[in-house]
Amino acid sequence: MGGWSTISDDEFERVKGLAEDARKACEDHDPVTFHHSVRVAHWSVLLASRLVGFGLSRLRRLEITAMLHDYGKNFVDPKVLAKSGPLDEAEWFQMRNHPELGITHLPVPLDYVAHEGIRWHHKYYNGGGYPEGDVKGVDLPLEARLISVADVFDALTSKRPYRVEHPAFTPSEALDIMRNMSGRQLDPSLVSLFDAVYKGECERVGGAAGAQTMQLMSILGVEIQRARDILKRIIGSFDLRNPLRGRVAEPVLNELIAKLERTNLDRGSAENIARSVLALPLKETFAPDDLEPLRGSAGPTGAMVGHHFEVRLALRNRERDTSYLKVVVYKGRLWLCISETTDDAIEVRLAR
Ligand SMILES: [Fe+2]
Repeated sequence: MGGWSTISDDEFERVKGLAEDARKACEDHDPVTFHHSVRVAHWSVLLASRLVGFGLSRLRRLEITAMLHDYGKNFVDPKVLAKSGPLDEAEWFQMRNHPELGITHLPVPLDYVAHEGIRWHHKYYNGGGYPEGDVKGVDLPLEARLISVADVFDALTSKRPYRVEHPAFTPSEALDIMRNMSGRQLDPSLVSLFDAVYKGECERVGGAAGAQTMQLMSILGVEIQRARDILKRIIGSFDLRNPLRGRVAEPVLNELIAKLERTNLDRGSAENIARSVLALPLKETFAPDDLEPLRGSAGPTGAMVGHHFEVRLALRNRERDTSYLKVVVYKGRLWLCISETTDDAIEVRLAR
């Protein structure tokens, strides 16, 4: 990455804000990519942070690149993106062109993106895949190989319209499949590294947990850490238990919310995280009359799933914003909303 400039904290926040804005603006066009790209960015950075040669600026550039790796899909017909079943030749042509379309229409300044990471993220380690080009093995840019591993893991562990018979694999099934792709589609050393990183992360969250557990813990943990870093830049060093020490809460809270909103979070989630980091009272997301009994049970039910705790709620109030990965407050604690189903009422799953 010789010749590339360093990226300061402020620049990174600004550019990541632009990437986020672009991502959010495209949610309707391509809802799958909307969530997928955040997770791919997360996995890519997690992997690269274990590699020699990834200093802070290169990691930051990778995060922005991974977040935008499928940006070109916004220039592909949504019917093609949502199609369940094989694509015809014209549709396939559009799909194969999405890396190049993404680079052409990048919503952030060119210097903050590793273009080759986008261009080659569907190129196989053995030279297969697309686009055309005689580049393979370790000659494929490292950013592309990293994004490819993260991309495949996330695609396998999340629901896809084109995989009707098996909507989502468990993380261990996904890792088995990826070991089979090792040396063909994926860089074998990065697959091994991913395996190790995955196991390490499971340890970190308390045992052999599912990818969802790891993803959930990572996301909540990452956002809280990000909020603490931003807060430190606003008010200097602080005591975790009493960060404000007599300062007026409102302006700090508002500034922190505004900064968090520009990264990964919607307004409500940003406020929940900001309040928690500032040790301010949390605001319950659900009023008692928002909830109604789940069919077949007296009230909200909770259970351990892997190593995270989940609770299922039935909502009476359809106006409540409970979109995926939104941070909410329920019974005085932070939770991630991980799914919702719409029926007579809206049923949501919260995890912590
Ligand atoms: Fe892609």
